[in-house]
Amino acid sequence: MQYGYFDDAAKEYVITRADTPLPWINYLGSDGFFSLISNTCGGYSFYKDAKLRRITRFRYNNVPHDEGGRCFYVCDGDTVWSPAFLPAKTALDFYRCRHGLGYSVFEGNKNGVAASLTVTVPMHTDMEVQKLVLKNESGAEKKLTVYGVSEWCLWNAVDDSTNFQRNWNIGEVEIEGGTVYHKTEYRERRNHYAFYSVNAPIDGFDTDRDTFLGRFRGWSEPQAVENRTSFMSVAAGWAPIAALRLSLTLAPGESKTLLFRLGYVENPEDRKFESLNIINKEKAHAMLAAFDTEAQFDAALDALKTYWTSLLSRFTVQSSEEKLDRMVNIWNQYQCMVTFNMSRSASYYESGTGRGMGFRDSCQDLLGFVHLIPERARERIIDIASIQFADGSTYHQYQPLTKRGNADVGSGFNDDPLWLIACTCAYIRETGDFSILDEPTPFNNEAGTEVPLMEHLRRSLRYTVEHRGPHGLPLIGRADWNDCLNLNCFSRTPGESFQTCSNFKSGKAESVFIAGMFVKYGKEYAALCDRIGLSEEATDVRASVEEIEQATLKFGWDGEWFRRAYDAFERPIGSRENDEGKIFIEPQGFCVMAGIGGPEYGRRALASTEALLGNEFGIEVLHPCYTEYHDYLGEISSYPPGYKENGSVFCHNNPWITLAYCTVKDGNGAFGLYKRNAPAYIEDKSEIHRTEPYCYSQTIAGRDAKTYGEAKNAWLTGTAAWSFVAVSQGILGIRPDYNGLIVDPCLPDTMDGYRLSRLFRGTRYDVTVRRGEQKGLIVNGKPVPGNTVPLTDAPVCTVERTI
Ligand code: GLC
Ligand code: GLC
Repeated sequence: MQYGYFDDAAKEYVITRADTPLPWINYLGSDGFFSLISNTCGGYSFYKDAKLRRITRFRYNNVPHDEGGRCFYVCDGDTVWSPAFLPAKTALDFYRCRHGLGYSVFEGNKNGVAASLTVTVPMHTDMEVQKLVLKNESGAEKKLTVYGVSEWCLWNAVDDSTNFQRNWNIGEVEIEGGTVYHKTEYRERRNHYAFYSVNAPIDGFDTDRDTFLGRFRGWSEPQAVENRTSFMSVAAGWAPIAALRLSLTLAPGESKTLLFRLGYVENPEDRKFESLNIINKEKAHAMLAAFDTEAQFDAALDALKTYWTSLLSRFTVQSSEEKLDRMVNIWNQYQCMVTFNMSRSASYYESGTGRGMGFRDSCQDLLGFVHLIPERARERIIDIASIQFADGSTYHQYQPLTKRGNADVGSGFNDDPLWLIACTCAYIRETGDFSILDEPTPFNNEAGTEVPLMEHLRRSLRYTVEHRGPHGLPLIGRADWNDCLNLNCFSRTPGESFQTCSNFKSGKAESVFIAGMFVKYGKEYAALCDRIGLSEEATDVRASVEEIEQATLKFGWDGEWFRRAYDAFERPIGSRENDEGKIFIEPQGFCVMAGIGGPEYGRRALASTEALLGNEFGIEVLHPCYTEYHDYLGEISSYPPGYKENGSVFCHNNPWITLAYCTVKDGNGAFGLYKRNAPAYIEDKSEIHRTEPYCYSQTIAGRDAKTYGEAKNAWLTGTAAWSFVAVSQGILGIRPDYNGLIVDPCLPDTMDGYRLSRLFRGTRYDVTVRRGEQKGLIVNGKPVPGNTVPLTDAPVCTVERTI
């Protein structure tokens, strides 16, 4: 069943009913000011950091889940309704939500009044603008009372939801015309404030939430709205809001447009105030003036659409697979941008208060983003590397606002350092910018410790080589990619975090997955060394790769698949010797991609993977699921069977298997798996899958779960980047390389070819792939040996590839 449809021409997903199984959200903003917005207009905004600089409030675990956020009320006679259905919950005569790239549009009609609400964060502004158009489509005059409301968060989202003994005393606002300024804590150490404003004279306001709502009432039925009035309340402590009220009279056929603006301003320390405790509003005034007319808004929305069209034109494909094209050309790349911006911080599942930017997550997100805005990828690589320690280990996370490593989580996740090699190599292959390797980059952000980035990569690699266990395999530490396989931790304390468990002993558990990573990225590092003339180092690294590869063949191969790990007692995990967790997905993906054991082992591992882990939504993490908790396994066995790391389809690692299929040249296997969880392909199962059909979710409950097929944790998942890599570099086979663009498709029998346009190092490559007798590569009309289209200075290059 579907709750909407894709409009490919508009690059929108059109939701046709408000009662989607879960809030289906979109992201606005791309740099500083970000908003989350659901299909009923819920959500929240923040500046750069969802924990430390939260602008509007969001109640996790709220019922209804999504109430609050942006509240609009239209009062027409006895009826109060909201253009996006919530919060008024009045049944609409017509409802539609269109989520586009960086904007959302809500269309709601009631009793002859049509509302159209378009919400976006214009580029290069720190402001969300909400354009509300109300049109009288009835035959009689309409007198409407309209409210627009925002509830402020007192900046630090954690403190805001815990420290009430303080917070209920500090809320402060200023009101000036149709603008409410939120200035809590500005009187002391903060130099930022927010505002909510409308571009027309208001008839009243409220800034104290409890006055506006009234006792025993929620957002669906505020007292002020019921009375069609405002109490002109001025917040002093408690919960400051901005509730703006306007009266409109609309003749039949007439429409009026209002622009509501939610903005964020920082002032220099010495220019904070205009007079005693009155904030300096200069910047706010300028921002408001820039978005005071419909024409200004429309121009900004057009500019945003043009920007996205041009960004996405860097990689577009036309094939016989409409759904593949839709994912590749629009939604997968869009999600890559969102994951790059958000890491795992702010979604409807990630509260924005816990995890900031993850080291491994951000490195992987970059793989699907680097072709879009390489300069931002470059900056990110340096930020990430700057939280590394001198011994090559690293903080696991950092806060985006401070860029400092997160000490509560600490380090000890032994896959982390290798991801830095993965993303740096990907960046250089994309851009040819070797100068990044010389970039002075500190350890632990300490001034004076800077070394060239290349040295960080070197230490990353060395860290793995120097931390190996009894079988010569890399030590796992607190965990590798699978945060929940905690083989050294032995937690028995309820509620304790498995990732930061105090009982952790840096034991001798080993990871076959990290071994696979090391072989793959060690080879990439050696190839990089060759490029920059470090041939001795390349030779040394290849020797280490060989050693770990041999250890993997000897101790990591189980007979029909790769083992997962050795636990702290040197027992194999992910082996036929185990009763549960006999096989895991991760090493099948990485060891096959790394070429360990060649195509023969690769095919056998993939056949076992499919047979034991495959379901209709993809490949499960492990099989059979753990039915009991084991302290020597950790969090993985804490989840009920079929959920999360205990046997769901953890979508992030499915593309590894797709790529593994490509490694053994099995196009049917690759595409067969790709289709099983690519959102557009399962849109018609939305009542089972439940999350948004236009983006990947982290996890889909496995066969052993009570809700098999149900997805959770939409949006912020490494699935976005890896799926893009799998489809673009694996299936379509377009891979940037140091000296050219590789065109090496791995198509299923059902696809005869495709046309593709790829911007690469300033040249637009127009690629046509088709099947034919005469296999080969033709570049600008001339045959070229091999798979690589050489670099060129020409603006356009025509490539024909026959497979
Ligand atoms: C989450 C984490 C990621 C981890 C994965 C598997 O998605 O963000 O870092 O690799 O879970 O545990
Ligand atoms: C939990 C989740 C895992 C995530 C981790 C982050 O363990 O199961 O997916 O990576 O938390 O700390």
